[in-house]
Amino acid sequence: MTVSATATEQAPQFPLKRGCPFAPPETATEFRESGTPRRVTIWDGSTPWLITRHDHIQQILGAGDRISADVTAPGFPNTSDAQPAVEGDIFFRKDGDQHLPIRRILNPDFTAKRSEALRPRIAELTDLLIDELIVMERPLDLIEHFALALPTVVICEVLGVPYEERHTVHESSKKFVQLSVPHEEKMAAHAALHANLSAHMESKRTRPDNGLLSRLVNVHVDEKGDLTFEEAVGLGALVIGAGHETTANMIGLGILALVREPEQRAIMLSDPAKYASTCVEEMMRYWSMVQTEPRRVLTQDMEVGGVLLRAGEGIICNLPAANRDPLVFAEPEKLDITRVERKHMGFGYGVHQCLGQNLSRVEMQVAWPRLFQRIPDLRLAVEESELHFHDDALTYGLETLPVTW
Ligand code: HEM
Repeated sequence: MTVSATATEQAPQFPLKRGCPFAPPETATEFRESGTPRRVTIWDGSTPWLITRHDHIQQILGAGDRISADVTAPGFPNTSDAQPAVEGDIFFRKDGDQHLPIRRILNPDFTAKRSEALRPRIAELTDLLIDELIVMERPLDLIEHFALALPTVVICEVLGVPYEERHTVHESSKKFVQLSVPHEEKMAAHAALHANLSAHMESKRTRPDNGLLSRLVNVHVDEKGDLTFEEAVGLGALVIGAGHETTANMIGLGILALVREPEQRAIMLSDPAKYASTCVEEMMRYWSMVQTEPRRVLTQDMEVGGVLLRAGEGIICNLPAANRDPLVFAEPEKLDITRVERKHMGFGYGVHQCLGQNLSRVEMQVAWPRLFQRIPDLRLAVEESELHFHDDALTYGLETLPVTW
């Protein structure tokens, strides 16, 4: 069977590749410039809509019950045939009454205020990691020794897992991220993490503290009864998983950008209290590392950019293209850490917007200035052209970041 050339031209294969590692895929940019939603072809041959304009993504993700995030719903543009079975029961793949109550249970530990209160401890943890780094043999991989390590120690802090046990969590969660790890090993790591969290949660019943695990077991399992023990353990593991790869990739990409663009690094270091936060927002916009999500299915017809999208059709939002939309951002291709517009959608938009965004922001705001203050002559240990970006995953990022100083 031959696929018609016009059909393939009209609906290119998705995920799209980035031609330049520092820009969105060219096809996504072309689609955005054309001004209307366009179709792409995914692994199962179906052709969901790719939404690339900033205003169109906001229209769709803000459309309440006219869209669904349910990966088991007919027409949902799944990432593989395993997705409905593997993720079908997770709250963030659900809508309305199946999503919001769990989100409300988790929210208190991730508010801007709670994350801000953690800033001094995050600074301490960052310094401990840099203390370890500076005595290591060089060159070294900053992804493994810094970018992946920091989110783990920080999320352990939020959960109430003691610092000394970070290695257990780190080893398990690292395996989910590394593409080379075989499936069986990933499953074993998953089981080990669950066993570890169960033991902690059990002990929090007699020794409660301010962490999330303690609150989940004592308030939600034992007092209110709105979660089972197993569900509570699952939420702990999910929070570790959801924030690990994303934050780690962003920390790595941010370091790379600051190494490549010394004038931007100098601005950040000239006044971190002023520029660390604008730097984080700009890096989120510039890299847009969540690149194959958010995905939804329409539950009602909707007109977007003059095109009628039908109920039951799949939607994939392209954040990299939207975050470089010239209708919203002046000189969108330029990295400018003094930019003040905070309109990027790097953490998503609407009711499923990222739970951990405040925490991630503080981590990046602390990590980048601290790293370059303590190691001012940090530089790549390889040619830039030798860096490997993983482009086919949900999140864009660097496989390794070899540096020296
Ligand atoms: C730089 C780091 C991060 C990025 C770029 C990121 C990005 C995103 C994006 C784009 C979404 C929306 C997905 C959608 O609408 O379908 C999302 C949702 C989510 N994120 Fe993050 N995230 C980051 C860090 C974290 C952290 C640290 C946590 C840990 C708590 C976390 C937990 C979640 C959860 C649980 C959701 C689903 C929320 C819901 O459906 O209500 N993320 N994230």
